[in-house]
Amino acid sequence: MKDNIIKKKKVLGQYFTKADLWLKKQVVNFIAQSDCTIAYDPFAGNGDILSAVSNIGNIKKIKGLDIDKKLGWDYNDSLIDIPYIKNSIIITNPPYISNYSASRKKIGKTLKKYFDNSIYDDVYLIALDKMIEKHKYVVAIIPETFINSNYKNKFLLDSITILEENPFDDTENPVIVACFDKEFKDIHDVKVYKNEKYINTLGNIDDMRLFPKNNVKCSFNNINGWLGVRCVDTTNPNDMLRFDFKENINYDWDNGIKVSSRLLTLIDLDIKKGKRQYFIDCCNNTLNEIREKTQDIILSPFKGNMKNGRRRRRLDFMTCRAIIEQAYLKIN
Ligand SMILES: C[S@@+](CC[C@H](N)C(=O)[O-])C[C@H]1O[C@@H](n2cnc3c(N)ncnc32)[C@H](O)[C@@H]1O
Repeated sequence: MKDNIIKKKKVLGQYFTKADLWLKKQVVNFIAQSDCTIAYDPFAGNGDILSAVSNIGNIKKIKGLDIDKKLGWDYNDSLIDIPYIKNSIIITNPPYISNYSASRKKIGKTLKKYFDNSIYDDVYLIALDKMIEKHKYVVAIIPETFINSNYKNKFLLDSITILEENPFDDTENPVIVACFDKEFKDIHDVKVYKNEKYINTLGNIDDMRLFPKNNVKCSFNNINGWLGVRCVDTTNPNDMLRFDFKENINYDWDNGIKVSSRLLTLIDLDIKKGKRQYFIDCCNNTLNEIREKTQDIILSPFKGNMKNGRRRRRLDFMTCRAIIEQAYLKIN
């Protein structure tokens, strides 16, 4: 019995949205300004989302669909088609299951029919396309990795809200609230908020990404390297991701570098001993500057928050290399 419940959770992505802390001021305004009278969840689960929005703006009715007949909603496979309902706004939390994790969890066969007809590698992206296909207004709680995804309709977004607090009881997946109004626009007009604070536009944030030119010779994951990089924030706000001398990073390097984990690395590059501290400072200054300017958004989220509530982030090797190249130019 318990095994069946766990399997269903995996295949159908049944993680329900308990707390309504995702309903930030700008999301509530978006729902109210749509003037829609029906809140419509095509992946309704326990109906928590519908209960949370039933008194906003002009909403007078709720409508839910689900593929799991036991939940009591009308049956529908919403990854294939979402029936149009006049005057409705879709508000949902679709299932998140990547093609990769589906095969790892041996549920690939069940989901094959969706991936076979799609350019995307996660069912939540397929769900988004189905939602905006027939409906103008869509509010979706989806993984934060969406920001770095290849989703092709980002220009139909009105806003993105990054949630630092976790609205789920049973998963720590970092999430955002994406509000679509289906108006064609430049992504420099798509607003990005962190919780209730406006940060910048999606386009401006994208423009701040750093890309390496591969013009400085350096080798990553080199156990003989002198430059240590903590590539993921720890839960301790005083031990965040940073560049430092190998000796100053609290890790027993004799254990080797776990290439697959990408939590820590050693890098070897040719910098004179007397200039190394300055080089490290330059790297950290650039890193801190982009964290500040983009409010961390260009760095991928990592499960769980720091003790001060800030979301943990991961420094990918491309950005790391780009930072190193800038610092190298500065000191030479
Ligand atoms: C992540 S849960 C979200 C439930 C609800 N929106 C909430 O936040 O509480 C996803 C829901 O989608 C349903 N589901 C999964 N695949 C589906 C499909 N192809 N069509 C319709 N519903 C589906 C699951 O049964 C589950 O109830």
